[in-house]
Amino acid sequence: MYVKTIRIKNFRNHQETQIKFEEKINILEGENAQGKSSILEAIYFLATSRSFRNSRIKDLIQIGNEGFFIHGVINDEVEDINVKVYYSNKQRKISFNNSKLTSFLSLIGKIKVLIFAAEDIELVKGDAKGRRKFLDIHLSLMSEEYFFCLKQYKKILKQRNKILKEEKRGDKKIGLLTEQIAEYGTKIVEKRKEIVRKLNVVAKSMQKKLSKDKEELEIRYLSPLKGETKQEIREGYLRKLRETFKNDLRYHTTSIGPHKDDIDFLINNKKAKNFASEGQKRSIVLSLKLAEYKVMEEATEKGAIILVDDVLNELDEERMKAFYPLLHGGKQVILTCTKNSKIWEYVNKGVRYKVREGKVEDADEIQQTKRN
Ligand SMILES: Nc1ncnc2c1ncn2[C@@H]1O[C@H](COP(=O)(O)OP(=O)(O)OP(=O)(O)O)[C@@H](O)[C@H]1O
Ligand SMILES: [Mg+2]
Repeated sequence: MYVKTIRIKNFRNHQETQIKFEEKINILEGENAQGKSSILEAIYFLATSRSFRNSRIKDLIQIGNEGFFIHGVINDEVEDINVKVYYSNKQRKISFNNSKLTSFLSLIGKIKVLIFAAEDIELVKGDAKGRRKFLDIHLSLMSEEYFFCLKQYKKILKQRNKILKEEKRGDKKIGLLTEQIAEYGTKIVEKRKEIVRKLNVVAKSMQKKLSKDKEELEIRYLSPLKGETKQEIREGYLRKLRETFKNDLRYHTTSIGPHKDDIDFLINNKKAKNFASEGQKRSIVLSLKLAEYKVMEEATEKGAIILVDDVLNELDEERMKAFYPLLHGGKQVILTCTKNSKIWEYVNKGVRYKVREGKVEDADEIQQTKRN
C-alpha cells in the first residue's frame, strides 16, 4: 500500500497543505516545529482514527478553527482508495470511496500503516497498558473479527464490573456475563498469543541484524491464562474466573483477563525494562516494529505504509547502518528529519520535501553517491 496524495486543512499548524508522494523514500525535512510530524499524524489518523502522539482528536484541530479535514488517496495495490474525513467538535463526516461511513471506527483496518516514533520507547519503558494497546491496534488492523471481539469484551467487562460493584452475588446476569467474558476474552488471548509468537521469531532475527549478532531478543506474552488452543485457554479461563470470583466481589473488579495481560521483552535472558541500555531499548522497539511490518505484510499480502518520525536519536552508527536497509524492504517510506540530518549518510536516494511554517515546498529528487 502507498499514499499517492494527501490534502490536509486546518490540521495542527497546516492551514492547507497538499502533497504528492512517491512510491519510494519520501523525506520531509525542516527545522523544529514546522509541521513535519503533523503530516505523518494526518496519514496515521486515516488508518487508525487516532493520533500516534496520544493527543486527543480535538487537539488536532488548528487553533482558532472549527474542524479539520483530511483527504487521502491511497493505492492498495489493486485500486486507488479515496478517504475523506472531517472532524469538528460538533460534527464528524467520513467518506470512503464516495460512500458515507457512520463512524471513524469503521475506517479501521482499511488502510495498513506502521509508525516508528520516539514515543514508541514507552513500549519497553512504560506500563502494560501501552503494550496491550500496541497488540490491539496491530490485530485490529489485520482482523475485523478481532476488533469486534475487543469492543464486545470491553462492553461486557464494564457491565460485569458494575454488577460486582453493586455486590449482586446471586444475580443471574453475572453468570451470563462471566460466560460471555470468557468467550470473547479467549478469542483475544488466543490471537494475542499467536501474534506474539510470530512477532518473536521475526523480531529476534531483526535484533540480531541490528546488534551484529550480539543480542538475543525474546518476546513473551504474559498471562495467567495458560494454554495455546482456544479450548485450553477457555477451560483454564473459566476455572480462574470461578477461583477469583470472591476476590472480584470484594474488590469490585474483574481481576483476570486480557485487560490485565502484558508482554515481556528479554535481552540475552534479562528483562529489558530493568537491564537494557537506552540504545538497546530503542533497538528492541525497532525490531518489534520491523517484525510488525513483516507479519502484517505476510498476513494481508499488502505492505503497510511506513511512517518514520525522526527516530535517529540515540542509535549508534552500526545500528543505524543496519536499520535503513531493513526498512527499505517496504515500498513506500515517509520519514521526517531536521535539516542537515545524518539520515543522508544512510539513505542515498529519495524525494525531499521542505516543510516550513505549515507549508510544503516542491519536492526535489535526491541522489548521491554512498558515503562509507
Ligand atoms: N492544534 C494546533 N493548532 C495550531 N498549531 C498547532 C496545533 N498543535 C500543534 N501545533 C503546532 O504545530 C507546529 C508543528 O508541529 P509538529 O509536531 O508537526 O512539528 P515538527 O516539524 O515535527 O517539529 P519537530 O522537528 O520539533 O518534531 C508546532 O509549532 C506546534 O506547536
Ligand atoms: Mg516532529
